[in-house]
Amino acid sequence: MEIVVSGIRPTGKLHLGNYFGAVRSFLKMQESYDCKFFIADWHSLTTHPHPDNIIANTHTILAEYLAAGIDPEKATIYVQSDVPEVLELYLYLNMNAYLGELERTTTFKDKARKQPENVNAGLLTYPTLMAADILMHRAVKVPVGKDQEQNMEMARKFARRFNTIYGVDFFPEPASFTFGKEAVKVPGLDGSGKMGKSEGNAIYLSDTEKEIKKKVMKAVTDSGPTEPNSVKPEPIQNLFTLMQMVSTEETYNFFDEAYNNCNIRYGDLKKQLAQDINNFCAPIRDQIEDIFKNKSYLERVAREGAEKARESAKKTLEEVRHIIGFPPIR
Ligand code: TYM
Repeated sequence: MEIVVSGIRPTGKLHLGNYFGAVRSFLKMQESYDCKFFIADWHSLTTHPHPDNIIANTHTILAEYLAAGIDPEKATIYVQSDVPEVLELYLYLNMNAYLGELERTTTFKDKARKQPENVNAGLLTYPTLMAADILMHRAVKVPVGKDQEQNMEMARKFARRFNTIYGVDFFPEPASFTFGKEAVKVPGLDGSGKMGKSEGNAIYLSDTEKEIKKKVMKAVTDSGPTEPNSVKPEPIQNLFTLMQMVSTEETYNFFDEAYNNCNIRYGDLKKQLAQDINNFCAPIRDQIEDIFKNKSYLERVAREGAEKARESAKKTLEEVRHIIGFPPIR
């Protein structure tokens, strides 16, 4: 069975971007692949979060994974830092990762601009840690949103390079994967760009009906189209993109037609969108609350997941050590 790996950083609660960019694919893939979904707590250290927040956020994401429908009977669910083997592979991959290419990645440049007081080596080698997560299980498919494309390119490059340096055909080149047409970028409601925790424009799966409505009603719009069938400006297109994800085709077509005929009422569109987002989130929201309270269940899922993930990781690492020229650990 083909191996699938993906992770989400515990930097807050899951939002619609995480859901439609990644989790939706997790749910579909767990049915027919050997899936390993984890919580990337090491990756979250680049911004030096408070220890209490790491623990709380890890529990939150774990509960949200389960509430969204990821099934520990079908997929291996684990916390990255429970699998220390990843760090050894990270070290080996770092020996073949060059400063220039790491410095050139857009995410590094962006982050360096956003946190100039904390441009740490972990930030620079973020793509090698991500590659280690993936290659650790020799995964072939990685369900991620569009924003991870460059990191995925790096992971492929590191896999290829390892194979070339050691003259082996050991690591497969992992491909980004999404169910549907193409990689997804879920927009925010503030007019431009993607939905994100740090962008402060996210709708969370756990948001209440009132919170959702407030956020959607505040979304940026304009004074409406003046010519029939005109191209939608970005803030408007974003509302339609969200509608495509949560509303029925009929609803979408109704508002699309209204837009094309220049008689759209943005107030009505937003009300409908808020309602559809709420309908989508409500069952997950209820589950999150229940599961979050069940700490012993969460602990059990994480413990059993870690055991399975370590088993797979150890197998890869044994072979990697052999390829590199290290004897088995004495
Ligand atoms: P993170 O935590 O930033 O995001 C988790 C997942 O959610 C997707 N995503 C989005 N997709 C579409 N539209 C959006 N607005 C949006 N916002 C977030 C991301 O693409 C991602 O799939 N580097 C990763 C975590 C990671 C990882 C890995 C992923 C660490 N190691 C190995 C896959 C494999 C990250 O920062 O995700």
